[in-house]
This record gives sequence, C-alpha cells and structure tokens, in this order.
Amino acid sequence: MTIAPEHRSLLTVHTHARGKRSPVTCRLKCNDACLHPAPNESANEYFKDVVSSVLSRRAMLGTLAVAAGAVVIGAQGVGAPSAAAATLPEGRFPGHGGRGLAFGAIDPQPVDVDALVVPEGYTWDPIIRWGDPILPGGRTFDPNNQSPQQQAKQFGYNCDYLDILPIRPREKHRGTRGILVSNLEYTNPETMFPPTERYWDIAADGSRTKNAYSRAIERAAHGMAVVEVRRRGTGKPWDYQRISVLNRRIHMDTEFVLDGPAAGSDLLKTAADSTGRRVLGTMNNCAGGTTPWGTVLSGEENFNGYFVAAGANPTADARYGIGSSTSYGWEADEPRFAQSEGYENEANRFGWIVELDPYDPDSKPVKHTAMGRFKHEGANVTLSRKGHAVAYMGDDQAFDYVYKFVSKDRVAKGDSRWARRHNKTLLSEGDLFVAKFTGDSPAAEIDGSGALPSDGAFDGTGEWLPLVQDGRSKVAGMSVEEVLVYTRLAADKVGATKMDRPEDVEISPVTGRIYVACTNNSGRTPTSTVEGATEPNPRTHKVVNGATINGNRDGHVVEIIPSGDQTSTRFTWNLLIVAGDPAVEGTYFAGYPKERVSPISCPDNLAFDAEGNLWISTDGQPSSSGIAKCDGLFKVPVTGRERGHVQQFLSVPAGAETCGPLVDSRDGMVYVNVQHPGEDGTFAAPQSFFPDYVPAGVRPEAGDFRGPRPTVVQVYRERRSPWGGGDRDRD
Ligand code: FEO
Ligand code: CA
Ligand code: CA
Repeated sequence: MTIAPEHRSLLTVHTHARGKRSPVTCRLKCNDACLHPAPNESANEYFKDVVSSVLSRRAMLGTLAVAAGAVVIGAQGVGAPSAAAATLPEGRFPGHGGRGLAFGAIDPQPVDVDALVVPEGYTWDPIIRWGDPILPGGRTFDPNNQSPQQQAKQFGYNCDYLDILPIRPREKHRGTRGILVSNLEYTNPETMFPPTERYWDIAADGSRTKNAYSRAIERAAHGMAVVEVRRRGTGKPWDYQRISVLNRRIHMDTEFVLDGPAAGSDLLKTAADSTGRRVLGTMNNCAGGTTPWGTVLSGEENFNGYFVAAGANPTADARYGIGSSTSYGWEADEPRFAQSEGYENEANRFGWIVELDPYDPDSKPVKHTAMGRFKHEGANVTLSRKGHAVAYMGDDQAFDYVYKFVSKDRVAKGDSRWARRHNKTLLSEGDLFVAKFTGDSPAAEIDGSGALPSDGAFDGTGEWLPLVQDGRSKVAGMSVEEVLVYTRLAADKVGATKMDRPEDVEISPVTGRIYVACTNNSGRTPTSTVEGATEPNPRTHKVVNGATINGNRDGHVVEIIPSGDQTSTRFTWNLLIVAGDPAVEGTYFAGYPKERVSPISCPDNLAFDAEGNLWISTDGQPSSSGIAKCDGLFKVPVTGRERGHVQQFLSVPAGAETCGPLVDSRDGMVYVNVQHPGEDGTFAAPQSFFPDYVPAGVRPEAGDFRGPRPTVVQVYRERRSPWGGGDRDRD
C-alpha cells in the first residue's frame, strides 16, 4: 500500500548525522557525539597517512533524491498492524540458509515505509507499548494526559535490550509464563508530549522549551521494566499481565547498590550519599545480557549527556564527553545533574553495568564497579571451563575499546537460594582487561578501501591487556579505584586498540567464539587526525556511483577466537562481515557470494539462536551515506557452507531502529524492540503511526495513540485458516 505523505517535512542534509539515523537521534541518544572532537585522541596506536578523499555533495543529493522519491509514510487507513503490508521476497536474497528458523528473506524497505515487514508466512503483534500500565494504580495510557506518577507505573520509552525469561530460574525453556525484561533507554519530548503549556514553556514567538513537569515524566520513562507475560502454548503469542507481583519499574528514583572495589571510594561520594555505595536511578540503558544464573545486565551508555561538567577533573570530563550543557535540562530540577557543590562526583555514579534480579521484585539492583566505567553498550556473560564468569563488553564511541571481565569466584551450580545469592556476587570481584588487536598483513595493504589484503583476510592476533588483575592495578600511576572509575583513561595508557564504535559483544553458545559489532565510525577517514585504516578497522572511505564517501559508514563484525579457554589472554581474530551494499566495493561477507546476501549496514545488537546462527539488528541503515533502507534484523550462519549468508528477516517502521533481538528458534518466534519509530516527527505531526495505526479522523480506542510508540514486538508463524487468508494463531 502506497499512501501519499502526510505531515512529512522534506528530508534535509544534516552533515553531522553521519552513519546515524537522524540528527534527533544524535542529540537525544548520544549528545551529538559526532559534533564533538573524538574524545579519544590518545596516541596509543600508529597514525597512518592515506590519500585524501572528498565527499561529493552531488552524490549525497542524488542518494537523497532516490530516498525522497520512495516516500510512503503514513499507514493511515490501515485498520490493524499487519504483515500483509509487507513487500514479499523477490528471490534476490534467498533465505533458508543454515539450520534453524526457516524463512524467505525480505526485500530491504525504503526509508519511509511505516510498516513492520516480516517474511511470508509470519505475522506480528505488540507485546507491550510505551504507556501500557504495569503496576497497581497505573491507568490506561492517555497520551493527552500524562503525568510523572502514571509514567512510573507504565512501560517507559525507547525500549532497547529485551529478554523473556522462563517463569522460574531452573526452567531451561520458555513455557506458558515468562518474565519480560526490557531496557528503556531515552526519551524524545517532541514525540511524547502534546504541544501545550502543561508540558512546555511556550515563548511569544511560539518556540517551546520542556518544562519541569515533562522533565519529571522523562525521568519516570527512563530505566527498565519487568513484566510477567503469559501465552497458551509454545509458538503462540504472549500477552502481558497488567497486574503481577513480578511487575516492576526501574527509573531515576529507584535505589541502586554500588558494589565492587570502587564502592565507597571518595570518587563516588556526594552530599546525598556519604557512603559512596547508594545511587538513585539509572539512565540510557542500552543493550544488556542475561547471565547463566538468570539475572539481567544492562549497560548505562551515554550517561554523559545528562550531566553538566563539574570542572574538578577536566581531563576525565573531556574523555567521557561531559560538557557545559545538556539537552535533557534536568540540571534545572536536581543539583546532582548540575554536579553543583557537593555533587561533583554524581556523573561518576553512572556509566556502569547494572545487574537486576527479575525473580526477586524486592531486590535492589546493583551497579558493578569491578566491570569498569565507560559508555557501556551492554555485557554478555559466558562461563569458563572452570566456571568463572567471563563478560565481554563494548564501549560505544568512535575510536573506543572492547573489554573483558573475568570473575574471581566460580559459578555455583543449581538454583538453591545459596547458589543464587553466591552467583549474584560473581561480577563484584575479578580481573578487567581491554583488547589489543594486531593485524598480520603489511600496513601498506590496508588502504582504507576495504579491499582485502593479499593474504585474503582482515585478520590477526590479539591480547587482553590487564587493567586490574588479582585485585591490583596494572596501570602505572592509577589506583584500582581510579582505573575502575576512569576506565577509558586507564585503557588509553596500556595501548588498547581503537575500534569503530564497539556495540554488542556476543558469545556463540555453540562454538564459544566471540562477535563484536562495530557499528560505524564517520571519523575514521583518510585524513583523520586520530587514526586512519587499521586491519581490524580497515575502511576509511567507499566509492558509490563514482563519488567517494569518507568514513566507515557501514560498520563491520569482528570474530574473536580465544586461544584456549575463555579466560585466556590471547586470541586470534578476523572480520566476519565488512558491511554495506554488496554491490559496492569494499564489502565482505565471509567469502559468501555477494549477489546472494541482503544489504546490511550499521550492525548494533547481536543475538544467537540455539543452532548457533548469529542475528544482527541494525541502527543507522536509513542514513543516506549508508544503504538508505529501513533498519532491520538479519540472520547469518557463522559456520559451514552458509557462513556469511546474510538474510534479512524483518524491517522496522519509518524512523525506527531495531533493538534487543531475541530469537527462540525452537519456538519459531522472534522478538524485537522497535525503538524511536518516527523519531523526527512531533506529537502534532507524527512521522510514524506504529504500532496502533489509528486511521486519520478516527477516534483512538482507549489506550491507543495515533502516533509512534516504542514497542516490544513478537513475530510468529501465521496459521492459515481453512476458509483462506491469514489468521492469527491466538488460540
Ligand atoms: Fe544505545 Fe550503542 O546504542
Ligand atoms: Ca590479514
Ligand atoms: Ca545499541
């Protein structure tokens, strides 16, 4: 269905939003990181001079013209969310490759398609949407009458990490009851709040500024949610439970425990917490991971964007990107966000890995200082042969690093009360490492184009460099507390390898190999003063239709092979995928025939299915400098003849990013969090109507909204009814 655009502003070239979806995403999500100088200018890798290339404005405009011509925004008239709007596969990107979930790969969708597109034979439903009530006293969502109190009892905004855990920790598979846990990363006031004086200070010229009331709603919309879900059987869709003793909201007023070696440090004390062990709130919770003992980890990512620099440690402020103002404006509400007198350390109390026990609604979530402080994308844990917990983590910033944590203690088997209590301490003490990648090809052969070197691979050896080991600092001039609170500064000193925005790091449950999504790096250009092409980050430009576009706009996926056990400090590595349009030179799909893979750009979140296939969700594909398609979810086998066969499973609606993929191939079900649909729109002029798709002129049913809502989505097989047509397999 192609519908004329409505309320849609013309696409505009915002040059700073390179490799990202939109300038709005940039501002809200990462505090315009691209606009600022790369915070990592440490000289811990060699600099490389490469021939200068210049972005062709004509090429940029040409790409945009194509995108603008494909506008189909606005699913008004669509009565219900439906896979029927999907563009079906044309056979160009054949699916069914590898074991596990079978499907025909979908076609990439133009950037303005406001539909969630799934493969033929599948359908989808929301499980829970922004504003759905989950706690006693929570009322049915009314977008025109929001309040901080109600938002704290409802599902929050911009869901990111997602898992659905079995109802009891000892169960291995999801049955008919489960516990949904979701991160709620950040807020977008333009799409959330009606343009009225209840939510905005409105100047005489009509310009608007968020008021204290809407800022309080924002703080209640951040954090995490725990929600019980039920269904009739495996393979059938879930419904969330509005009332359950397990339901829980974590937000900016929730009390956390700081634990580990830096807890109690002077660096973590404030006027409100003389112990340095108690923090209110969590923010910018991006990706995460579920531990083998059934807790959920959550990464505090772009925390810098919420604080005004205190000025006491300008070096650290600069390295973490804490500036003189914020777009959130919460510093007007609470002195801790201003880091005013007595609160100079407040920002040090964010940027951690959070551990939440969804099975114990009364437990306080914990921030683990032993795992270091940086812009944590997430953390994923596996167990070593001897039972040590080994966590892999990315620091999502251009030219930042990949980390590993190895617990001091070993996991206790079983799910006794004692075992669970013990396992919840595993991330409190251990060794912290940062990755150094060394290429095995001559530097001259890594020319920035993405062309493979003469040995046929971007590959080499690597080392986990210790930052803290056996309880002692391994960084000259820094104490353990300093290493853990200022981890970026410590990693700079030991010579870690600058990577192209390391996001999710996942471990294959089948092979134990580790995969790092490097989403993109518009700053790694031929003339970059930070760093040019290196073998683990080999692209500084690409040529599209004869025009050169600088930077690594499409990202890549690194495969790490431990040399022995997961606790080993040595590894080998190679690039599994150098992403992009396979028709463009400089892309690579593990040697799989390029004409058979789906285009993919900006890999972000990773997941594995039970068969060991890697699933990649993307954030940034709509960028005109990428492949200019809606973001999506992709399957790629990593072993056997199908290794590298990228196949697109779904596409998210206009303006959205795909988050939190969860693939239960035994159940035949796939789950994604659809984050920031219609991000560039406003409450009055939405640019997406997902997922309620309330038609124009129709009064929304109670709880529905004619506008975009970040939503947890389930995709499952459609049952054909005997009288023809699709029928939701609800019964
Ligand atoms: Fe919140 Fe790194 O994405
Ligand atoms: Ca090589
Ligand atoms: Ca992410």
